[in-house]
Amino acid sequence: MRQHVNPLSKHFDEIERIPSLKEMFDKPKLNLHLDIGCAAGQFLLDLAFVNPKWNYLGIEIRERLVKTARLKVQDKEIKNLYFIFGNANNIFNDLNSKFIFNNLKSLSFNFPDPWFKKRHNKRRVVQKAFINMLSNSMQKGSFIFIKTDVKDLFEHMDFVISSNLNFKTIDKKNFDYSASFNPNKVTTTRENYVILNQLDIFEKIYVKI
Ligand SMILES: C[S@@+](CC[C@H](N)C(=O)[O-])C[C@H]1O[C@@H](n2cnc3c(N)ncnc32)[C@H](O)[C@@H]1O
Repeated sequence: MRQHVNPLSKHFDEIERIPSLKEMFDKPKLNLHLDIGCAAGQFLLDLAFVNPKWNYLGIEIRERLVKTARLKVQDKEIKNLYFIFGNANNIFNDLNSKFIFNNLKSLSFNFPDPWFKKRHNKRRVVQKAFINMLSNSMQKGSFIFIKTDVKDLFEHMDFVISSNLNFKTIDKKNFDYSASFNPNKVTTTRENYVILNQLDIFEKIYVKI
């Protein structure tokens, strides 16, 4: 399978129809968590299974991974999880997707970018314009979680998010995970690899003020 796709390719300009929350979830009014760059969705599948009081939404740009994730949802008859195919930046530039923010309590960028080289900076999902759009759309008190094993990427994401005055860093040590989208601290697929190989993990939480 192709490991990476260029998010700036014209192929992703057109986005698929985003169904309403009612179509996505059995209980559309539940708190919603969004995972951007969810790959084949194992993290969200694990979360949705153990936390029926939350709805989970994943966005992934590699179509084949989204197909695999959707099949698992169907197979396991999970009603609080939905996957969208496409470039997250393009999806949220579309005004028809804004309704997602009505229920959104948190979102995560977990090990999001394969674009390490400076000349590929523009391909990174965390961009100033994207974060500005999030800051204009997210409710006060909602959270952004970032995690990566690449220090340079962490610094890039942290700089972009911290430069937006509507987001304030939260002290991770005092963060109450029990009320969050991830009370059991489920780990992602990439995170499991990173832990196994004893690599560093850089992470931060921000709240919209
Ligand atoms: C390194 S993988 C990490 C997957 C998963 N979050 C984890 O922690 O195991 C990064 C994923 O983000 C996806 N991705 C990168 N840029 C994206 C974008 N602009 N929109 C949606 N998905 C994106 C990639 O296709 C890839 O599957």
